Amino acid sequence: MTYKVGLLGLGTVGTGVAKIFQAPAGRHPLLPEIEIALVGVRSLNKQRDVAINAEIVTDDLESIVNDPAIDIVVEVIGGIEPAKSLILKAIANGKHVVTANKAVIARYGNEIFTAAKQKGVYVMLEAAACGGIPVIQVLKQSLGGNRISELTGIVNGTTNYILSRMYFEGADFGATLAEAQKLGYAEADPTADVDGFDAADKMTILASLAFGDRIKLEDIYREGIRSITSADINYAKELGFTIKLLGIARRVEAKDAQDRHLEIRVHPTLIPIQHPLANIHGVTNAVRIEGDPIGEVVLSGPGAGSGATASAVVADIINVVAVLKSLPNQINQLMGCSHEHYAKIAP
Ligand code: HSE
Repeated sequence: MTYKVGLLGLGTVGTGVAKIFQAPAGRHPLLPEIEIALVGVRSLNKQRDVAINAEIVTDDLESIVNDPAIDIVVEVIGGIEPAKSLILKAIANGKHVVTANKAVIARYGNEIFTAAKQKGVYVMLEAAACGGIPVIQVLKQSLGGNRISELTGIVNGTTNYILSRMYFEGADFGATLAEAQKLGYAEADPTADVDGFDAADKMTILASLAFGDRIKLEDIYREGIRSITSADINYAKELGFTIKLLGIARRVEAKDAQDRHLEIRVHPTLIPIQHPLANIHGVTNAVRIEGDPIGEVVLSGPGAGSGATASAVVADIINVVAVLKSLPNQINQLMGCSHEHYAKIAP
């Protein structure tokens, strides 16, 4: 049996996914059992960086989520709509979903996971945070025995690329942003990167998984890097510091249970050059997790771009197929966080 994927989107990430499927040799042994059967695009005439049989390409995105032959819908079109509606429709039609869409998951994760639970299908989101770093899998499964107390990270590649170039080369903010766009790191609207919205979406997802609670995006303090100048970076450098856009999530413990809460924020942060996150440069992302009993874990790797994000998407597809083949009744175990209560977050 071949598992059929409906790929929604053939932009930076979709192209990377298609390329992996076109060259399965040397990769996971399940890849040849999985086929990209349909590809949905918004514009049929756009020049693509990958050769796809025109017969499987359509601009009728809904026809893919309604197609009974499709087992797994991969949503990599980004943005809120029509992505959210297509994900919900795919779930309603009993399809498993793999998405890279942090904006949709951060805002509508509860609705999506509730629908998926009712239908008994998977929703996988490894690519929604930190590109190629397998941080979702680590938080959901590998560190499952730990009580996480803190998660701090560089979770946006575009801003880290800009800040690194400003630090090392005194590069100009605008020109560096244009390069990040050209390299396929930035969001369609780079305001999402520069003003910290993308990082806040990712911290909503990561903190929900780390603390086992549903975090509301609007409760996260957010500030971007727009006001950081080369002069700020030079002063920081002279003092032995660097400036990074950090996502910080931690439990604030207190004697009185009433006063215990979570603190979650995204903002430019002055960090000493010896700090483990100070030497994470370019598009690289890194996440430092502190848990009991494990102590400190630091994960780092490419946080954006076609290949890195496609790597995470394909891993999710393989995980779904692996479970469908061996443990068809364990469906809920691989789903994202499905807690319905809300954390108390510091004002
Ligand atoms: N624009 C995002 C970033 C893409 O720069 O990190 C990966 O989520």
